[in-house]
Amino acid sequence: MQIQCAILFSGNGSNMQNLIESLHNQTFTHSRTHKECSLHIALTLCNNPNAYGITRTKNLHTPCVVLPHRDYDSREDFDKQMIATLRSYKIEYVILAGFMRILTPLFTNTFRTINIHPSFLPEHKGANAIKDSFYAPQNYGGVSVHWVNEELDGGEIILQEKLEKIPNESLEGFESRIHALEYTLYPKAILKALHLLPQESSPHTSKGCK
Ligand code: GRF
Repeated sequence: MQIQCAILFSGNGSNMQNLIESLHNQTFTHSRTHKECSLHIALTLCNNPNAYGITRTKNLHTPCVVLPHRDYDSREDFDKQMIATLRSYKIEYVILAGFMRILTPLFTNTFRTINIHPSFLPEHKGANAIKDSFYAPQNYGGVSVHWVNEELDGGEIILQEKLEKIPNESLEGFESRIHALEYTLYPKAILKALHLLPQESSPHTSKGCK
């Protein structure tokens, strides 16, 4: 059995690269059926023609479809085109990795979709989560992986972890530790969500900072 996934991104694409390197074409055991199951990242999709991540997909030899959202009159029209593209690749699960577009219910009701957010949700939803948690009074930030629903950063949590602040640390230092945590947490969370258990030799965890 093979599970077909797509990764959507908008910019740098370091999480996308990490997921491909950690999970693509790896074989797992399904925890419910006990059957062997491989995970195939069949496609990446990007809404920003200038994204650095597109170069990463070329280096990774992974197909990348670029759909500039500005070419569409409405969010629904854009989502319809994404849905048609993803269906043509027989995608079952969609993984968001820095995809900076709000999805309509049309999309979220079509594909089971997973997202990563760089805070300990429900704290600090939105586009400035790292900065917001850095300047917040709490002594921690965090990373959360969740199912996507129609509410922004609001779906059911799959896995999340806190990251303790270090006294006198710069925002840049904090941000790079958040990203390092993302690289270890996201592959683990996806396997948990899909009920996949690593086999002995499966390199399912991060290979380090991107
Ligand atoms: C990550 O911090 C992710 O949590 C957030 O956007 C950032 C994307 O970074 N949603 P990259 O494009 O994966 O490098």
